[in-house]
Amino acid sequence: YLTSAGFGLAAPVPPANLSPESCQEVPDQQQKLNCCLPDGSQLTPIDFEFEADLPMRIRQPAHILSKDEEYVKKYNQAYVLMKQLPDDDPRSFAAQWHIHCAFCEGAYLEPNNPNNLKLQYHGSWTFLPWHRMYLYFHERILGDLIGDPEFALPVWNWDNQRDADGGNQMPRMFAPFYFGKPLSMNPQDSELSKAIRNPEHFPPEHVRLDRGNYYDDMGTVFDSNLALMHRAVVTPVSSTDFLGKPYRAGQAADTAGPGSIEVNGHNIVHVWTGSNYLKLRPDHEDMGTFLYAARDPIFYSHHSNVDRMWTVWKILQIDQSTRRGSRKREDPTDPDFLNTQFAFYNHKKQLVHVKISQTLDTERLRYKYQALDSDQDWINY
Ligand code: C2O
Repeated sequence: YLTSAGFGLAAPVPPANLSPESCQEVPDQQQKLNCCLPDGSQLTPIDFEFEADLPMRIRQPAHILSKDEEYVKKYNQAYVLMKQLPDDDPRSFAAQWHIHCAFCEGAYLEPNNPNNLKLQYHGSWTFLPWHRMYLYFHERILGDLIGDPEFALPVWNWDNQRDADGGNQMPRMFAPFYFGKPLSMNPQDSELSKAIRNPEHFPPEHVRLDRGNYYDDMGTVFDSNLALMHRAVVTPVSSTDFLGKPYRAGQAADTAGPGSIEVNGHNIVHVWTGSNYLKLRPDHEDMGTFLYAARDPIFYSHHSNVDRMWTVWKILQIDQSTRRGSRKREDPTDPDFLNTQFAFYNHKKQLVHVKISQTLDTERLRYKYQALDSDQDWINY
């Protein structure tokens, strides 16, 4: 296997070198945006280790947690504290959302490669594992700030099309009127709602998962959402169809290719949440753009559901008698996948290198999803 650069043998993508010299500004409309992370050049990276004695963190549906005022207050408080940290603290909100803009627009170059290849974890089989660990460290930092090791991110169950409580809407805890009064476009009293979003999509508006879904009739909207979910998660049997295509060292990331879960529900919910189509902001500083998506706290709840879909995909039990067949869904076993490494800062500000092989089982990471049952609607659709 020759790399796209035309030399050498394929190898796993190495972790980013988080020194300022290996980071560059990324294009943002007319200007450039500095997404570089706090300087890690003086730190010795540690290898990620499982912590079997951590309490299990149970990620629950955000639309249900929205009714739990204790939870919402605690979650909000975690962001209050995170935003008080100075920007050069890797646990700060600025550093946290910069992780996303750094690794979606190629702020860091692939180490040890002469061709100035940009590290990029979207559009390939790194998409799910990288975002999983991004959320893992983000969740651990939030929990640490509020002194709650059981703290777990809320999950925006946008695939749920039947729950009268609003699983298929923007969860109310993120809406600007959660704390009592309508705050319209300039919500001040909740960190969870301080973001630029399409106001036409505040609850009770239903999410549209299918780009072509402009129907007014709600029954048709639900049907088309269910069909979209089925196409995104049930139809793809091969791991690279679902997760994304191979991305190896020495390969330009944009020559890989996204999996069905990235292109379908994931991308669409990003754009639906942001204000893009209303053109409210010429710079699109919202969920609809790579650069700014993670500056909205709803990003992490949205991605919890994307991450949950990976779990659902792997446990799909398809009836052998149906035309969908019975082939098992399994993660890639390619060593370049398993040995790809990512660099993150943990809640102790340590620089951690984690291998994709360590990301494949959420229970070993000490978290799991409470709700898998709502999925039968679209699994069997
Ligand atoms: Cu990093 Cu939802 O994209």
